[in-house]
Amino acid sequence: MCGIVGYIGKRKAWPILVEGLKRLEYRGYDSAGAALMSDTHQLNVYKSVGKVADLERTAEGQDVSGCVGIAHTRWATHGEPSTVNAHPHCSQNGDLALVHNGIIENYAVLKEKLQAKGCTFKSSTDTEVLVQLIGYIQQQGNLDLLTAVQLALREVIGAYAIAVVDRKHPDEIIAARKSSPLVVGVGEGEFFLASDATPMVTYTNQVVYLSDGEIAVLRADAPLKIVDLNNVECPHEAQTVALNIGQLEKGGFPHFMLKEIFDQPDCISDCMRGRVNTDTCTVTLSAVSNYKEQLLRAGRFIIVACGTSWHAGLIGKQLIESFCRIPVEVEYASEFRYRNPVIHPDDVVIAISQSGETADTLAAIELAKSQGAFIYGICNVIGSSIARATDTGSCIHVGPEIGVASTKAFTGQVTVLTLLALALGREKGTLSEEEYHRIVKELVAVPEKMRTVLKQHLFIADFSKMFTYARNFIYLGRGYAFPIALEGALKLKEISYIHAEGYPAAEMKHGPIALIDAEMPVVIVATQSPLYEKVLSNIQEIKARKGRVVAVVTEGDTVIRNLADYSIELPATLECLNPLVASIPLQLLAYHIAVCRGMDVDQPRNLAKSVTVE
Ligand code: G6P
Repeated sequence: MCGIVGYIGKRKAWPILVEGLKRLEYRGYDSAGAALMSDTHQLNVYKSVGKVADLERTAEGQDVSGCVGIAHTRWATHGEPSTVNAHPHCSQNGDLALVHNGIIENYAVLKEKLQAKGCTFKSSTDTEVLVQLIGYIQQQGNLDLLTAVQLALREVIGAYAIAVVDRKHPDEIIAARKSSPLVVGVGEGEFFLASDATPMVTYTNQVVYLSDGEIAVLRADAPLKIVDLNNVECPHEAQTVALNIGQLEKGGFPHFMLKEIFDQPDCISDCMRGRVNTDTCTVTLSAVSNYKEQLLRAGRFIIVACGTSWHAGLIGKQLIESFCRIPVEVEYASEFRYRNPVIHPDDVVIAISQSGETADTLAAIELAKSQGAFIYGICNVIGSSIARATDTGSCIHVGPEIGVASTKAFTGQVTVLTLLALALGREKGTLSEEEYHRIVKELVAVPEKMRTVLKQHLFIADFSKMFTYARNFIYLGRGYAFPIALEGALKLKEISYIHAEGYPAAEMKHGPIALIDAEMPVVIVATQSPLYEKVLSNIQEIKARKGRVVAVVTEGDTVIRNLADYSIELPATLECLNPLVASIPLQLLAYHIAVCRGMDVDQPRNLAKSVTVE
């Protein structure tokens, strides 16, 4: 949610900022802007509505010289997407420029105070209030930028990651964070700044993740200095990030989303590597080995997550309850944190988040921690705020996910949840040795089965055309397939803007059946399971009302093939592992319908990949 980039050093800042913004465009893309300290000591600010490419066009033929700059790609919170609301925002005298990710909650009070002192505002953003406040404090006390930032931030309530430059001190960037991510990349005589490490991997793999309350002082001619609001120095150590450029490019696919769908077999193998012993069919999760006591004494698991990660949590609940016989609750982090939940010290909270930055999930963790619960994180981004806030956890290791609609992170999360349930179930003795080995053996076969499903890509692309003009969809499933239905419906909504609802198949009769007619496509996961016959009856009921059925079935199912309008066949697997295989055709279906409708698949309107505001 909003992406920040900064550079200070000996290279030209502009191309680094533009390239960095493009890497961060998944965080927001309604407008973009940059501020550069020019070679002639001017502070040049360029902004535009739309994507980073629009910003590049705006700056064409302008002075983009200089080796110091900050830039921003926006996801609007306060004020509509417009050039005037785009960042950077400037102080009253135009000397300071600031970019911000987050929300200044007390901006109205601060704005009134500043207006009373004669400040005038151009935009309707909370960010302009912050830069005006810093500028006002600086001028009043004739202070250096760092001190003015420290004093201003003491008055601020809310979340922020900011970067500020000062025309009078062109050799410095001040950056600060509270509840919004910010990473400093450390090079030789140069520093990079960004909301995550992806913009800097071309230049350095040494990064420092800022913690809440920290302020970084970046100067090309000095080592990195980090202080807090009281100017006390904060010790820091650079970490090595293991990202490569290939992971950040489309690799011949037309969209990141399609690449990421096709990456899944390899991602699942990466996720299992070092954890699953294929010879002995056993699972070792270091978090389970190291924190056995805390996990085994758990009276209850509470899974907190948002969006797609919440759907993965629903599958995790079924896996953990079934393998470990521990009750599991799955909560939307945003609801959990605000409803005074009952949390016991022997509860284990599992926080699931691809980005590791979702504000509500982070707040849910803090709440659970304050009441003594043990926190287990399942994240993709190493070094992210959630990964650092947990007691232990397991990374999903699927590599950077760039498409805004989550695909490979979902199957990675389900894989880790499966490993966790297997490892704990064995430790607890609630899963028989025979069953345990049978599931592990079948899990190892999942990547190959995913490849088989992906071979149906063109078939799915072909029949997707029939749904280009559909206005509504229903997705149905039971048991392990119900969260798959929810996730399939979410994928379609996110990228094609077609209304879609996921429902437990048996609940269809209690409402959704009234919607079914020849105009209503129904996607139903009807793979082999103990409830197969019942799902088959649901298909009959839909067909009797002229609904169009896309059925996801187990290969060789001629009964449903003859009944459904389109059937997608999956290799047989265990019911508990079916989500890993069955989610793929639904991802492809959503993708192809969106492509047929001409939508921007990787950057759908109004969405952001990383929701760092409430
Ligand atoms: C946003 C993204 C979703 C994601 C959700 C939770 O809504 O667009 O794809 O599932 O946030 O994000 P997280 O990073 O916590 O998994």
